[in-house]
Amino acid sequence: MQNNHLLKGKKVLITGASSGIGRSTALALAQMGCDILVTSRRHSELEKLALECQALGARIEISAGDLNNPSYVEELALKAGDVDILINSAGVLTYAPILEMTAKECMDMFNTNVLATFALTSEIARSMVKRKSGHIVMITSTAAREVYKLGGVYCATKHALSAITRSLRLELQGSGIRVTEIAPGMVDTPIRDTSNHPAVLAAIKARTIKALTPQEVAQSVVYAIQTDFNCCSDLIELRPRGAA
Ligand SMILES: NC(=O)c1ccc[n+]([C@@H]2O[C@H](COP(=O)([O-])OP(=O)(O)OC[C@H]3O[C@@H](n4cnc5c(N)ncnc54)[C@H](OP(=O)(O)O)[C@@H]3O)[C@@H](O)[C@H]2O)c1
Repeated sequence: MQNNHLLKGKKVLITGASSGIGRSTALALAQMGCDILVTSRRHSELEKLALECQALGARIEISAGDLNNPSYVEELALKAGDVDILINSAGVLTYAPILEMTAKECMDMFNTNVLATFALTSEIARSMVKRKSGHIVMITSTAAREVYKLGGVYCATKHALSAITRSLRLELQGSGIRVTEIAPGMVDTPIRDTSNHPAVLAAIKARTIKALTPQEVAQSVVYAIQTDFNCCSDLIELRPRGAA
């Protein structure tokens, strides 16, 4: 059962909102009556999203920028102000054998998936601590708990993000702030489009399992943030049916 009234008017910042899970989450929260601030690098995609959210009756602001730019992260945190909920969905993925991955591909994944998310979350969490209230949602992955061929560096970034998430939860115990990790398996989004190693393309082609939809992941975010204040959804793992 959805408790729309618990979310109505809540201020939410969503990263990675131009696409995939972040975009679907923005649309789901627009339907729940949240006031939304969305970010990603592509301004044009955020503008399209804003029109769709406004058509659902939501108040939405957009802010385009690169989370790997520390001054943009500061600017975004200022703009977010006394936000109630932070949803970290921005992320990148390049699949390739470890020995064939470039240092740049590796750094790009660590920078965006771990360091940028850490930087923004720290800024927002410090403000939540002062207010003794807030909810932080991290989109990690089932890759935060397992490793697989061709995904070694991506798995490493998600292990790191999950470790930061769990430590943050421990450190914020008693502060009035909830920390939720959402760990999906394969989701049908454009995130794999940047991987073009032949072994990766062959592995993707050979898959028989139907991926989750970004809307299904968005539903789990909605579930986590609408629970009564005393109930903390610490970890939600989602897999397509039949996936190990
Ligand atoms: N798809 C899956 O199978 C899957 C499974 C488990 C977990 N996840 C995780 O779920 C999250 C969302 O992924 P998705 O599948 O929805 O991918 P997606 O459709 O490619 O979306 C990724 C989002 O991140 C934004 N982004 C990337 N780099 C950025 C940067 N430097 N600064 C600001 N924004 C940036 C992109 O926007 P711009 O390009 O406009 O900047 C985009 O909105 C990621 O953390 C991913 O690791 C995905």
